[in-house]
Amino acid sequence: MSESNNKPAPRPTIKAVRGTRDLLPDQTPLWNRVEATARAVFARYGFGEIRTPVFEATELFARGVGEETDIVSKEMFTWEDRARAASEKAQNLTLRPESTAGVVRAYIEHKLGETGQLQKLYYIGPQFRRERPQRGRYRQFWQIGAEVIGPQSSGAESAVRDAEVLEMLASLLDELGIRDWKLELNSVGNAEDRVRFNVALREALAPVKDQMCPDNQRRAETNPLRVLDSKDEADQEIINALPKIADYLGDESREHFEQVKAALDACGVPYHVNPRLVRGLDYYTRTTFEFTVTTGLGTQNALLGGGRYDGLSEMLGGPKAPGIGFAIGEDRLILTLQAQAEADAAASGVAPAEPKLNAYIAPLGIAQNAAALKLARELRREGLAVEVGDGSFKIGKSFGFADRLAARVILLGENEVASDEFTVKTFASGEQVKVPRKALVDFLQH
Ligand code: HAM
Repeated sequence: MSESNNKPAPRPTIKAVRGTRDLLPDQTPLWNRVEATARAVFARYGFGEIRTPVFEATELFARGVGEETDIVSKEMFTWEDRARAASEKAQNLTLRPESTAGVVRAYIEHKLGETGQLQKLYYIGPQFRRERPQRGRYRQFWQIGAEVIGPQSSGAESAVRDAEVLEMLASLLDELGIRDWKLELNSVGNAEDRVRFNVALREALAPVKDQMCPDNQRRAETNPLRVLDSKDEADQEIINALPKIADYLGDESREHFEQVKAALDACGVPYHVNPRLVRGLDYYTRTTFEFTVTTGLGTQNALLGGGRYDGLSEMLGGPKAPGIGFAIGEDRLILTLQAQAEADAAASGVAPAEPKLNAYIAPLGIAQNAAALKLARELRREGLAVEVGDGSFKIGKSFGFADRLAARVILLGENEVASDEFTVKTFASGEQVKVPRKALVDFLQH
């Protein structure tokens, strides 16, 4: 027999979708600090902010990032968006898995190249990839990225731009306090170099590909370059023996790469050339790079990645517009900073202090509520951070609760309201004094 009382069954709760996360107020101050530092550094290098939509036509990513990449072939959140009116067409749309394609689309759409000037653009925002979630890998994650793009006459192709971007990243990571970062650098050549390299790769793969995992067998056929960044353990020996792109660079690409390295040497930015660094997106030409860290990220140790994409604008139907850029995984940056802070706290035995409000205003009865809110308004307008109670405050009993929030408690009873003189308790010292209203702001600030 089913229950006959009229109580409705409790409804099941709804959780955040797999691979997505809530960032609560104890976490967001660090996110805001990171973003503020990035904005300040970008401003010093002449970058302006661009905000592009979080969804775009699927075609943009298919053409820009490449049909054969993992991102496009299996990780995109794509849907058929039906027409809402006879005047609209149904469209295939995708939540952006990265922002470079969108930024270059905007560059073309708004004819930014016609200014003749180099465009230095940065963005901060969420990206979406249907990956297998794990520490440092989410389905909604944040990137802080930047792109330098322009007509050839603006110098967008110069190795100076590559080196400037890399030097800026080194400075940003230093300023954020990221320790032990490592810059891995490579050149994947221009389109012609890549044709020659692909021929060589296919030849080298032909006799061995049957011994590789199914994914690499497929890549060997469709996009052999992708085999090089495969993480499949069993295939590593075969991959290490494959030809190196460095041996297939033409004079132009080789010279460009030498200039990038020479400028980095001059700036004192350390790097390691990694001939297998081809990156997981098809638009890259010449310089490619990643910054990795050893603390906090485990296997997902790439803090950021980027490179040059000299043919992307043309692939999207735009004018010739060489460019270079990067995207930092903000989630990973935060995990690294948190792991470093934990390691520091463990080493010193001192936990970092939690920031507190200046004061907790405690009306000692409902009759004082209005006066408490008025005082809170006045103090907040003077720039103090305060919380206000609701008349349920019990002297002694509620102190612990106020102590967690604020450095001091202001007791507001009938007498205090009448005399405009308040009893203020400082939690750190336990001291309790009477402070006239006129002296209150100054007292709370010290
Ligand atoms: P990407 O290497 O695909 O490059 O992503 C850049 C960074 O985003 C990675 O190094 C990583 O830190 C972070 N990231 C990627 N996927 C995830 C995920 N599922 N969860 C958390 N973090 C993730 C790009 O996106 C290019 N658009 C970079 C670029 C800009 N190249 C030229 N300009």
